[in-house]
Amino acid sequence: MHDLRTLLETHNQGHVLAYWDEISEDGREQLVTQLRDLDWEQLDAWIEDALAAESGANVPASLEPAPYYPLIPETAEQIDLYRKAEKRGRDLLGQGRIAAFTVAGGQGTRLGYDGPKGTYPISPVAGKTLFQLFAEGVARAGEKYGVPIAWYIMTSPINDAATRAFFAENAYFGLRAEDVTMFPQGTLPAIDPSGRLLLGAKDSLALSPNGHGGSLLALRDHGCLADMAKRGVDHMSYWQVDNPLVYQFDPLFLGLHDLTGSDMSSRSLTKTGPFEKLGNFCLTDDGRCIIVEYSDMPDELAEATDVDGRLRFRAGSPAIHVLRRAFIDRVTQGRLDLPIHRADKKVTCIGEGGITVAPTEPNAIKMETFIFDGLPLAENPLILEGDRAEQFGPVKNVNGIDSAESCRQLLIERAARWLEQGGVPVPRRPDGTVNGEVELSPRRFLGVDDVKAAASGLRPPAAEAEEYYG
Ligand code: UTP
Repeated sequence: MHDLRTLLETHNQGHVLAYWDEISEDGREQLVTQLRDLDWEQLDAWIEDALAAESGANVPASLEPAPYYPLIPETAEQIDLYRKAEKRGRDLLGQGRIAAFTVAGGQGTRLGYDGPKGTYPISPVAGKTLFQLFAEGVARAGEKYGVPIAWYIMTSPINDAATRAFFAENAYFGLRAEDVTMFPQGTLPAIDPSGRLLLGAKDSLALSPNGHGGSLLALRDHGCLADMAKRGVDHMSYWQVDNPLVYQFDPLFLGLHDLTGSDMSSRSLTKTGPFEKLGNFCLTDDGRCIIVEYSDMPDELAEATDVDGRLRFRAGSPAIHVLRRAFIDRVTQGRLDLPIHRADKKVTCIGEGGITVAPTEPNAIKMETFIFDGLPLAENPLILEGDRAEQFGPVKNVNGIDSAESCRQLLIERAARWLEQGGVPVPRRPDGTVNGEVELSPRRFLGVDDVKAAASGLRPPAAEAEEYYG
């Protein structure tokens, strides 16, 4: 105990033991464990960075747009590459070398939903939850490619038990329990504006999930990397729990990633305007690929245009990636020094005189690391343009932009498009929008090819029987 006090004093955090005499034995044990689990050297550096963080301060002086592969191949060479990549992606899936990875450890504060975000009912007709839609897609892919797909789901200490219970209650939506691995991510303590650790209770730090960047170390620490190696998995298809439109297993994306020797690949979307709230894919002058957050992007770069009038920095990130297992292995050999990102938030905490304070204005700084900061560490990072209407509909808010409401509409529109492409007419209003509500189950329809096959009365095509390009 003496050691711990000394350690805390050295780091100017002695105040966290202020209520030691008042708390129970269990409470003391909890607090001591939390404090001993911290990497104090790294924490000091992160606190210093978080306090110094100013919008745009860490953005390198000279930035170029990062090159990306276009949605539609443009040259004969690209057509050939995409054809090979698509085939490679199907082979990888058929050989069981692709796992699914969903990050679901966030707190979903903007949605204001009580429970893990994955348990939020989203599908427009059946009201299926986000988790169910993904589970059905995983099951369909397993059936389509003839091999069960391992699915890793990152939770947080806050929602881990509820997430596990949800899957158990729903019998894993038909998946084999041994193929679904849930594991909690790490946490970081919130600090006040002077860098002092906040107490969430007298016997606990105010801890919150350490950001989706925490997934890399959590995969290692919970034995997922070892498990993947045992299963013969080489790559993870990564998506966020809030985007039910994601193409969970896109052969082209997976195949391009593998064929080009990329450690980490990302989807891009063409931004709707200079200030759209998507991270910007950029190249630094030493050739590293980075994502610059929209809030950090200097206006003159955000607004810069090409000779043809298009935005120079038009590639935005919808947070869809593929990660090579060997890459995660490499970067998690020792300490992983991802940069810290700061968010000013309202955090209930113990204030002066031991009174619990529920603030109405941000009082705390939360620290998080981001998965996309893995990109500059990756060899041959690859960016592939995606189709926004097909692949992106994040559920961040209740209504308005990026909301449950807009996501449901996007799901309806996509289902209608797929049906029409399969030759099934869908009623539309004079303005072209779908007149009614329609939903396709990912358990049967992973992509438009499944719809086409079903609509023409055929069995779903065998894994390698299709050719899209050329
Ligand atoms: P967001 O940045 O949208 O955060 O997460 P959030 O916590 O879900 O929502 P708000 O900001 O409180 O409203 C994007 C994705 O990253 C995951 C989320 O679960 C979501 O899939 N995430 C975020 C984590 O897994 N862990 C984290 O610590 C943060």
